[in-house]
Amino acid sequence: MSTPDLFDPAPEDAALLAQLRQTLHAHAHRYYVLDAPTVPDAEYDRLFRQLQALEAKHPELNSPDSPTQRVGGKVLDQFGQVRHAVPMLSIRTETDTEASGAENFDARIRRELSLTDAEPAIEYVAEPKFDGLAMSLRYEHGVLVQAATRGDGEVGENVTQNIRTIGQIPLRLPVGVPPVLEVRGEVYMRRDDFEALNDRQRQRIAAGERGEKIFVNPRNAAAGAVRQLDPAIAAQRPLSFFAYGLGEVTPPEAGGPQWQTHYELLQTLKIWGFPVCTLVSIAQGATELVAFYTAIGGQRDGLGYDIDGVVYKVNSLALQRKLGFVTREPRWAVAHKFPAQEMLTTVLGIDVQVGRTGKLTPVAKLAPVFVGGVTVTNATLHNEDEARRKDVRLGDTVIVRRAGDVIPEVVSVLLDKRQGNPEVFTMPRICPVCGSAAVREEGEADYRCTGGLFCRAQRKQAILHFAQRRAVEVEGLGEKLVDQLVDAGVIHTLPDLYRLGFRARAEIEQLSADDLYARLPTTERQDIALEQLKKLERMAQLSAQNIVDALEKSKHTTLPRFLFGLGIRHVGEATAKELARHFGKLDAIMDATEEQLLAVADVGPIVAKSIRTFFDQPHNREVVEQLRACGLTWPEGEPAPVAAQPLSGKTFVLTGTLPTLDREEAKALIEAAGGKVAGSVSKKTSYVVAGLEAGSKLDKAQALGVAVLDEAQLKEMLDGRS
Ligand code: IVH
Repeated sequence: MSTPDLFDPAPEDAALLAQLRQTLHAHAHRYYVLDAPTVPDAEYDRLFRQLQALEAKHPELNSPDSPTQRVGGKVLDQFGQVRHAVPMLSIRTETDTEASGAENFDARIRRELSLTDAEPAIEYVAEPKFDGLAMSLRYEHGVLVQAATRGDGEVGENVTQNIRTIGQIPLRLPVGVPPVLEVRGEVYMRRDDFEALNDRQRQRIAAGERGEKIFVNPRNAAAGAVRQLDPAIAAQRPLSFFAYGLGEVTPPEAGGPQWQTHYELLQTLKIWGFPVCTLVSIAQGATELVAFYTAIGGQRDGLGYDIDGVVYKVNSLALQRKLGFVTREPRWAVAHKFPAQEMLTTVLGIDVQVGRTGKLTPVAKLAPVFVGGVTVTNATLHNEDEARRKDVRLGDTVIVRRAGDVIPEVVSVLLDKRQGNPEVFTMPRICPVCGSAAVREEGEADYRCTGGLFCRAQRKQAILHFAQRRAVEVEGLGEKLVDQLVDAGVIHTLPDLYRLGFRARAEIEQLSADDLYARLPTTERQDIALEQLKKLERMAQLSAQNIVDALEKSKHTTLPRFLFGLGIRHVGEATAKELARHFGKLDAIMDATEEQLLAVADVGPIVAKSIRTFFDQPHNREVVEQLRACGLTWPEGEPAPVAAQPLSGKTFVLTGTLPTLDREEAKALIEAAGGKVAGSVSKKTSYVVAGLEAGSKLDKAQALGVAVLDEAQLKEMLDGRS
């Protein structure tokens, strides 16, 4: 313990130490909770190290609320038990995912309170239901002294060490808070933090580290981190927190707070430094509860974190007391669930599908299951490595996830439910559709069928790609019709789409389809196509005519649409547009060297090579010629003047203070030279321009091996000198 004041060796150290702690708490709050730091990371680190040094010098001044305590203490054998002063209750769950779920709750509350229809709407607070784990944080005299899990509601586990590592949770509260304050809320993991954590886990597993695993979802990862016995490991698992309620609090008669409403208490918690979700709203009556449910449901996939429903709470604390509890649940609250985005089902088989570029994709065939609002029967397994990593096998019980528009995915297999020893999935080495060899190029994840347009699956996909709305658009030409046309041998190559029926007719007349087509006038050509279409099953006169008209209409297209429609690997819509703008004419693109192609914004070496390879194949040039012969046309233009754009295609990130340019000036100069400026560093960043007091962006650039420039080097580039 410290010696009495008179003999204190360095009172100025003690004062400095206290000041440093206060400053660091304030910075941490601005950084973690408000997301609005006012100092660069490097400055925070400097103050932090200064505090660490002082604490090392004066161990007698150590304190559990010091910011240095966030890095984690000693490894535990097991967690201690904590009896909750006020039990941690659960809430009734409403699984009716219609508006009636909210309406029934409001009706029940009104009944309990004996309100007639004539009386005004009840005021509620509506909150998201966070998908993490409940936590009770106990503060005594403003210092965090204990963090406990819910456990069975009466007794939980003491996880204080791990919770201290969460930057969003205040270790010390401002003066004036009640002497005893238990704040309850949800510990969770943000989706981006979860993805980054799993990326690191994958790297560790690849590096042969033992005992590491991939987490199934953010909630699992959060629960694992909270219950991690080694706090140093817990500290590396990025967690977040939302406050939504209270446990024990000094009562008003003993000088505690006199809140009237739940909303008011949440606002106070926010002022005291706790994160409170910004989506929390006041709602008057059932109508506004339903509106909240619908609005939050619509935003669900775009939030940075998982929620599985919303929670409605009666706002008035007096009414809450009046309503009381039934067994372990308050009458004044309900959790209104959203449709589940994850469900269990069984694997009926694993199919291999062949895509337009010949890519073989393993697809799990599932027992139909209603998830994310639709019935799912298929889920992609992406490629062989993914299928093996997840180790999905016939008969397995799996978790399927579907969020919003996202393609259904197998999240993981429940291994303890596996029966017997079903075979490990292996990718076939021949194409399941055409029997050609399937090969996996070095450094690629995918197997590809080498059959090209000989492969019926690739032919179908190529036609659908060409005919889609974003390409030349043949209205009404869907998967079913293409299947029929290809399977019946009517279409062998892309141009056959415009020569429907000509293969059969040409055979009879002993001519080539090309020659026959060239000899006939348009009306006769259309008659042949109509006749051919009507021979197909379920094709009525009217729809056949519609297809013929749509084909005719699609012949007048644009160069970017045509180019995109050809399905050249790596040439998406944006690249097709750039190519068309740059070269003006199709022939110029077909004859361009890789070097000339590289001059196009958006085109890198891989894309340039892919375009060159495509047009080097005689059969691809033939397809283009035949399509032109069938009457496909588009306006051609002049090549765009090649502007002097020394930084085009390059992305910059600015950090720190540059000697002469301010941030806006630097940004304007880079953009004027054709470059882009981004806010954060990633693998796609070309350069980081660093000035004085550069912070974490510089560290990240170094970690990712991104080139770092100073202002002088940037100016040289702007001048085109390097
Ligand atoms: S209030 C007495 N509000 O849902 C009411 N709970 O059974 C106590 N949860 O595991 C809970 N978001 O951790 C409340 N906005 C929210 C919540 C929420 C998530 C969790 C809570 C508990 C379960 C309720």
